[in-house]
Amino acid sequence: MRLIFRTLLTAAALAAALPALADGTDDGKKVYMTKSCMACHGMKGAKPVMTYPALAGQNEKYLLNQLKDIKAGKRVGTIDETTGHPFVQGMTDIMHLVDENDLKNVAKYLAEQKPGAPKALDPAPAPEEIAAGEAAYNSLGCKSCHGKDGMKPSTKTYPFLAGQNRAYLIRAMTEIRDKTRVNGQSKLMFGTIKKASDAEIAAMASWLSQIDRSAE
Ligand code: HEC
Ligand code: HEC
Repeated sequence: MRLIFRTLLTAAALAAALPALADGTDDGKKVYMTKSCMACHGMKGAKPVMTYPALAGQNEKYLLNQLKDIKAGKRVGTIDETTGHPFVQGMTDIMHLVDENDLKNVAKYLAEQKPGAPKALDPAPAPEEIAAGEAAYNSLGCKSCHGKDGMKPSTKTYPFLAGQNRAYLIRAMTEIRDKTRVNGQSKLMFGTIKKASDAEIAAMASWLSQIDRSAE
């Protein structure tokens, strides 16, 4: 009797442990650590190098859609003058190392990571620049899709913007406005972003990049 009870207990413990093993987070971490993602996007996706995007705490569906588009070569962008190749090239080059399942797992892992604290800007932007960024964001109507302060995307396939790398934000907005980046749901944004000047884009990026999502 005792033995049967113990066997049942063991089975129950195993069953409880299984979903944790099968949910992809551990597998996603392994992909992130072994397929060179960390070299460019930093520890846990929260400390990107140079002008590369932060990924920690981004919407899972948005991440997965971008990963699929990058793997399929659908997401293109401007040329990085320091390398002479598109910014996304280094990443595209390693995408043969990952399959569809890896992409699902790594998107899940990254969405569960805590967003990093904002990276201080050097030189620090003037208070007027930050205020102009917030004003442009609110008057252009970005809030309807990305939420108040870029903190609450209205749909799971839309990205968070708060705390994102400033240089990356400028590039992403400019590329979508100029229709260089047209993959996925980019076209939903065309009508709004076309009204933004270069100065407004820079100001919005300064403001958004300094909003802290790490304490959530
Ligand atoms: C050589 C550097 C490099 C490597 C390695 C790399 N990435 Fe990237 N990644 C980038 C750059 C640069 C961009 C932005 C491209 C652009 O500006 O269009 C990017 C974009 C992304 C995006 C879209 C982010 C957004 O906000 O739209 C995701 C998701 C992503 N990378 C995940 C990964 C994962 C997962 C791996 C590993 C399998 C990886 N990256 C490996 C450089 C890299
Ligand atoms: C109608 C909805 C909508 C509106 C309004 C909108 N966006 Fe977007 N935005 C999106 C969607 C959807 C994406 C992702 C596109 C994709 O699937 O690749 C996006 C992507 C972005 C990105 C790229 C994020 C990344 O990680 O690469 C930035 C930056 C951005 N939006 C800023 C803005 C700003 C600033 C405004 C206001 C001027 C704005 N958006 C207005 C829907 C919208």
